[in-house]
Amino acid sequence: MSMTPFRIRERLKKLLGLGPTGSSEGSASAAPPRPKVTLTVVDQAGEEQTFDGKAGDSPLFISGNMAKPIGSGCNDSSCATCRIEVLEGAENLSPQDARERATLEANEHDPDTFRLGCRTEILQGSVKVRAHEFLEI
Ligand code: FES
Repeated sequence: MSMTPFRIRERLKKLLGLGPTGSSEGSASAAPPRPKVTLTVVDQAGEEQTFDGKAGDSPLFISGNMAKPIGSGCNDSSCATCRIEVLEGAENLSPQDARERATLEANEHDPDTFRLGCRTEILQGSVKVRAHEFLEI
């Protein structure tokens, strides 16, 4: 009797992955946990930092947990401050799209050499990258 129109509250919770709402319907709606991925970032001096994240995280996001995070400017794929060279595990990254290539070219970085740390996603396994700019903490 006191249900919301069209069961909107339950539908929103399901869409947001907030799990069962107490009703018997849709009790298996919780999203499965994302697998662990591992990022190693190398600086120009050859020092390495490693941190785990979840599948689908960007290198920039994961590096935010490191003592020396990858540098960033715009966080919307337009400045290329977050550019990284992939040293190992390129097959574990999301494909490079036209926007990423265009941003790298517009900022005079070879898109066949670099990826954008804010746009690329680590889909599985381990990835090792070299970053060229770091946040000053
Ligand atoms: S932070 Fe600007 S392109 Fe990634």
